[in-house]
Amino acid sequence: MYNEKVMDHFMHPRNVGEIDNPDGVGQVGNPVCGDIMKIFLRIQDGRIEDIKFKTFGCGAAIATSSMVTELVKGKTLDEAMQISNKAVAEALDGLPAPKMHCSNLAADALHAAIEDYKKKQQTSK
Ligand code: FES
Repeated sequence: MYNEKVMDHFMHPRNVGEIDNPDGVGQVGNPVCGDIMKIFLRIQDGRIEDIKFKTFGCGAAIATSSMVTELVKGKTLDEAMQISNKAVAEALDGLPAPKMHCSNLAADALHAAIEDYKKKQQTSK
């Protein structure tokens, strides 16, 4: 039921793991199924220098996590904030309709991690 690109990112997910002392962390849960995704960011000069993820979820959740990390690595925070869940699903050439809810984790966790970074910046000023 998954296309080749989704299968590739599921079988060989990019940027899996954690970052020590990350600049931002975002975690979201999918209310539909209870799956969880966590994203870790390293920010340098306003850009995402490194990004890693840990996902406890289905194949589509893992594939979208992997894809979102690829899409935003090297991007500015503003560019990364503009990535939508839909854009991630499109970059994977689409997900089967019953699995579209799984793509909600990816961009949401990314945005939560960026918000966390911004909050930390403000409190350290
Ligand atoms: Fe939970 Fe896909 S079934 S994210």
